[in-house]
Amino acid sequence: MKRWIVFAALCFCILHVKAFVIDNDESCESEEKQQKMKCPKHYKGYYRQPTATNNQTKMWCLRVVMVNVSVSELAAQQACNAEGAVLSTFASYDEQKHIVRHASKYFRYNNITQGSIWLDGVRIEQCRTLNVTQQIAAPCNDKTKVFDITDPRTDPKYAWTQWYRTAPSWAYWPVRTEEYSTYPTVDSITADCVQMWIYPGNDDRNGQLHAIHCDMAVPPYDFEKALFTNYGYVCGRPPVLSFY
Ligand SMILES: *[C@@H]1O[C@H](CO)[C@@H](O)[C@H](O)[C@H]1NC(C)=O
Ligand SMILES: *[C@@H]1O[C@H](CO)[C@@H](O)[C@H](O)[C@H]1NC(C)=O
Ligand SMILES: *[C@@H]1O[C@H](CO)[C@@H](O)[C@H](O)[C@H]1NC(C)=O
Ligand SMILES: *[C@@H]1O[C@H](CO)[C@@H](O)[C@H](O)[C@H]1NC(C)=O
Repeated sequence: MKRWIVFAALCFCILHVKAFVIDNDESCESEEKQQKMKCPKHYKGYYRQPTATNNQTKMWCLRVVMVNVSVSELAAQQACNAEGAVLSTFASYDEQKHIVRHASKYFRYNNITQGSIWLDGVRIEQCRTLNVTQQIAAPCNDKTKVFDITDPRTDPKYAWTQWYRTAPSWAYWPVRTEEYSTYPTVDSITADCVQMWIYPGNDDRNGQLHAIHCDMAVPPYDFEKALFTNYGYVCGRPPVLSFY
């Protein structure tokens, strides 16, 4: 009986102290701190430094969506839009690493050795040309300027340091030769979209960016090139606020 009373008293005490602490917390906390930012299901949140070059974005939610058929860039955009997001890209090493890991895991599970996923980015208008003189001059020959981001909430500065060594090449098909005099050919089109290579067994290429024509389903195409086949895309959206 005595023990029970002590126990009850202890419980009361703990509850009382806890309630006090909560009260105290609430009176001290600013209104802003009570708003928590959360990402919807399937999305992973990343804090970003708000700047003029990312539309003052403080937090951004990313989702890596993997599909089992080759998908065009437009289809990827539409799929992201359908869930209230946009086709997106990474702003930092951490975000890039998350994308590469997620996609690599899917590849390993499905026995895919190499492939790609779509990211946001589009060749700037003046460089969508097969004119060699323009392509080998600025800004078209500048890895940091030849592509632009379509969604302003990601600063692409870091992403443009992640082009593969020889990327972005500018015309397809047939496969690029370094001999400009025989290239482009009449069946070439410009490579206006951005894919990330996923190649878990190849450190040189895994996670690197490559330019490709936006629709893998129309000629010129080359399905022999497993590395260029798009098995997914990255959607991005702002967080949701949760009040409590
Ligand atoms: C960028 O920020 C401005 C001001 O907050 C906002 O009105 C606009 O919708 C934002 N753009 C996008 C694409 O989120
Ligand atoms: C591809 O995935 C969809 C949806 O997950 C599934 O219904 C379909 O059977 C899959 N197709 C193949 C060829 O694995
Ligand atoms: C992947 O390969 C392994 C070993 O060959 C096999 O057991 C497994 O069923 C394969 N998985 C798929 C999704 O094809
Ligand atoms: C290619 O571009 C250069 C520079 O703008 C221009 O002088 C030239 O006429 C163009 N060539 C063709 C074939 O259009």
